[in-house]
Amino acid sequence: MEVVILPGREAIAAAAADGIEHLLKRKPDAVLGLATGSSPLALYNALVERYQAGRISFAQARAFMLDEYVGLPLDHPERYRNVIEREIASRVDFAAGAVQGPDGAAPDLAAASQAYDEAIRQAGGIDLQILGIGSDGHIAFNEPGSSLASRTRVKTLTPQTVTDNARFFGGDEAKVPHHVLTQGLGTIMEARHLVLMALGRSKAEAVHHMVEGGVSAMWPASILQFHPHATVLLDDAAALRLQLAPYYRHVYASKPAWQNM
Ligand code: GLP
Repeated sequence: MEVVILPGREAIAAAAADGIEHLLKRKPDAVLGLATGSSPLALYNALVERYQAGRISFAQARAFMLDEYVGLPLDHPERYRNVIEREIASRVDFAAGAVQGPDGAAPDLAAASQAYDEAIRQAGGIDLQILGIGSDGHIAFNEPGSSLASRTRVKTLTPQTVTDNARFFGGDEAKVPHHVLTQGLGTIMEARHLVLMALGRSKAEAVHHMVEGGVSAMWPASILQFHPHATVLLDDAAALRLQLAPYYRHVYASKPAWQNM
């Protein structure tokens, strides 16, 4: 796991955008994994800027989303499919139908989940998966207790996540759906490169368990310790509880220029 502690949101966004730019130049038809939440928003802005400047194109690329609320009306602004459309998909040159998400409105959610894993497989797997982390250590919507081998499926949100996400629903917890479809931890672990971004003090405990704790379903993000190519981009506040922070800073400061993310 490469842990990189950077000065703030813009530096984290630029580092993640560099990784995606490098991938798209090497493989224009790359398959990206897109995340929602506030952590990747500056990254999406950086990608749009690079697209507008002619540095990158998504014309041949495809993308899969991590998760989706169950039961929100199709036109609800917080439906993750609409969030991704608004924040990135409609702002760059993805081809029609190139961005897919789990179908939280499907009449048969189990079948929709299986079909989603199959669609990812058919696309050749995800090259680079963007991730955030919940304050309870979830990635996508894999809440504590999630099987470390899980596939895309229905989950029930913890009260903590409902509280955390109420800010997107006008602060009203009653409006946050309790059920979601999410890629499983096993699904996410099949992506070839994981890039997780975490910002702020509220993430420090989860980051501590993810990077330096034991691997446990209690802190689902800790599964990243088993991934052969995981990059964790943190600001100082999110890195506050890391014992080896001085070492991570030293490694990054002495990173050879030829070594990409
Ligand atoms: C939601 C999403 C996760 C995201 C998490 C953190 O629960 N399902 O993918 O990582 O929120 O969000 P934020 O980046 O806003 O802190």
